[in-house]
Amino acid sequence: MKIIDNLRQGNEILKENNIPSYKIDCEILMSKTLNISREEVLLNLEKQIKKEDRAKYFNFIERRKKKEPIAYITNNKSFWRDTFITNKDTLIPRPDSEHLVEQTLLLIKNHQAKRILDVGVGSGCLAISILNERPYCRCDAIDTSKKALKLAKINAIRHHLLDRIKFYKRDVDNFYNDKYDLIISNPPYINKHKIKYLGTINYEPKIALDGGLDGLEIIRKVISKSKYLLKINGKLILEIGYDQKYKVVNFLKEKSFFINKIIKDYGNNTRCIVSTKIK
Ligand SMILES: C[S@@+](CC[C@H](N)C(=O)[O-])C[C@H]1O[C@@H](n2cnc3c(N)ncnc32)[C@H](O)[C@@H]1O
Repeated sequence: MKIIDNLRQGNEILKENNIPSYKIDCEILMSKTLNISREEVLLNLEKQIKKEDRAKYFNFIERRKKKEPIAYITNNKSFWRDTFITNKDTLIPRPDSEHLVEQTLLLIKNHQAKRILDVGVGSGCLAISILNERPYCRCDAIDTSKKALKLAKINAIRHHLLDRIKFYKRDVDNFYNDKYDLIISNPPYINKHKIKYLGTINYEPKIALDGGLDGLEIIRKVISKSKYLLKINGKLILEIGYDQKYKVVNFLKEKSFFINKIIKDYGNNTRCIVSTKIK
């Protein structure tokens, strides 16, 4: 059967199952099946595919039909200027988190050798994107999830950065080290009771989402700990939930942080706060 006929059948199945991105998803899943680019898929629509490839493709379609995120089916996600291996052990890198990368890069000149700490490294997308652009910086990366750290390490190896990132399996509460110039963190910040309403997000590990009863449990830990782990004038660059700005700003001020910048996402929601430890 031709590629185009398989795409059409896949489209029908996903459309019937309310997957809004059904067309592009089918193209991506076909490109994964045949191990060619999406462009090549579209250039070879009349080509026949083998029986075993058809079975593989419809196996992916079945997974997508059940709302499994594309990034978990393809084990791949683009973020900032690179692609990262993804699996069910970590959060899928989000376009919104690119604000955090952008703001961090604005604080470091190309020739500077800053020490960075990434709290909750997950797939490694934040630390790796930053180190890729700032060749003299080094990063320590912590996470409570052993499986996330394993994947972050694989991504670091793929980006030839293993000599500049050190990984620690540690809760931020129990991490003691020298002082850092910058701390970056995209901590879990979803209210515990709201996680189940988040649709596809349910495929992602709870530990990457669960911010406790008010969603702010880990954010507060990160801020409190950053007070000790940052040098004076060190920067904390934090991603937060769209409705957490006032509470987080107040907590930062309580802990003697100066608020430098509050960054909104493309939907006009506050998503990232840059602050300075002033004493
Ligand atoms: C929202 S994910 C962010 C992953 C990645 N940095 C990103 O931006 O895609 C949060 C990460 O924090 C980790 N985490 C949760 N609680 C933690 C804690 N108390 N200390 C350190 N890491 C924690 C989770 O395992 C998860 O990998």
